[in-house]
Amino acid sequence: HAADAFRTDLMTITRFVLNEQSKHPESRGDFSILLSHIVLGCKFVCAAVNKAGLAKLIGLAGETNVQGEEQKKLDVLSNEVFVKALVSSGRTCILVSEEDEEAIIVEPSKRGKYCVVFDPLDGSSNIDCGVSIGTIFGIYMIKDGGEARLEDVLQPGKNMLAAGYCMYGSSCTFVLSTGSGVNGFTLDPSLGEFILTHPDIKIPKKGKIYSVNEGNAKNWDGPTAKFVEKCKFPKDGSPAKSLRYIGSMVADVHRTLLYGGVFLYPADKKSPNGKLRVLYEVFPMSFLMEQAGGQSFTGKERALDLVPKKIHERSPIFLGSYDDVEEIKALYAAEE
Ligand code: AHG
Ligand code: MN
Ligand code: MN
Ligand code: MN
Repeated sequence: HAADAFRTDLMTITRFVLNEQSKHPESRGDFSILLSHIVLGCKFVCAAVNKAGLAKLIGLAGETNVQGEEQKKLDVLSNEVFVKALVSSGRTCILVSEEDEEAIIVEPSKRGKYCVVFDPLDGSSNIDCGVSIGTIFGIYMIKDGGEARLEDVLQPGKNMLAAGYCMYGSSCTFVLSTGSGVNGFTLDPSLGEFILTHPDIKIPKKGKIYSVNEGNAKNWDGPTAKFVEKCKFPKDGSPAKSLRYIGSMVADVHRTLLYGGVFLYPADKKSPNGKLRVLYEVFPMSFLMEQAGGQSFTGKERALDLVPKKIHERSPIFLGSYDDVEEIKALYAAEE
């Protein structure tokens, strides 16, 4: 009835984070200020993505980035938006972006204690055809209160304080974990606020979906090939799994988080470390999966235990429902 239409106890992301912060009396609100700047960046990119079709933002920006990919205008724009938002928060000291070859050391006058690694626009090959894309981020605390150094962002993913993503799809959804569970917020454009819509997300223990680019099948290693074969032709008489692959990690991971199943970007002969980047794709999504009761495996180890050597390092990744990833781990263990 009418009263529900205007729920007055709107839990906005700002209030939610302040509630979280009250659990850490020692914190002086720095994290809340940092997060509010990330949220502002997401709102800006959400608006730009929705206008892209009209504002002729679509198409190539002409340059190619360190990944050797053609940079599309929205890639470049969203990168600038997040770098500016993070620096102006006054709470960051070193930034790593997919779109910048070198780490960005924040000027001393604007420095804070957080290190942010981010993929400003994930799934950029999907921009022009209107398929969901997103932003992914992870947050570390500087190792010791001293100078910001590269080692501060070459920490294992398990040291992250927080991680999240924003998906620009049919609605704008912000999914966040600060280390005590996963919560989802949906942008209400009439308020310009992210409202809590998915409290305490838990991934189903087992799923019926597998998500992988089957086009790479000829280059897969044994365990990956065996796992996918089992999904398609189960030996134990159970029904075959469904294949769902969107090609934007944010969208594939968001569906996996809500519906269950497993997302794979395996190594293959062409790319022995797979395609996805450790710092700003593998770590944040692995952090969220573990916080939601799932798990994430590289083919060799727990993804969050990986210690990166380079800021754009890649790793194979198998993440999702706990039991499904266990099956993949068993296949790799048998291979050893
Ligand atoms: P990005 O657009 O940030 O470079 O990331 C693209 C990634 C990821 O979003 C997705 O899972 C993967 O590329 C898809 O790769 P394929 O097209 O090789 O399947
Ligand atoms: Mn890219
Ligand atoms: Mn990406
Ligand atoms: Mn990207």
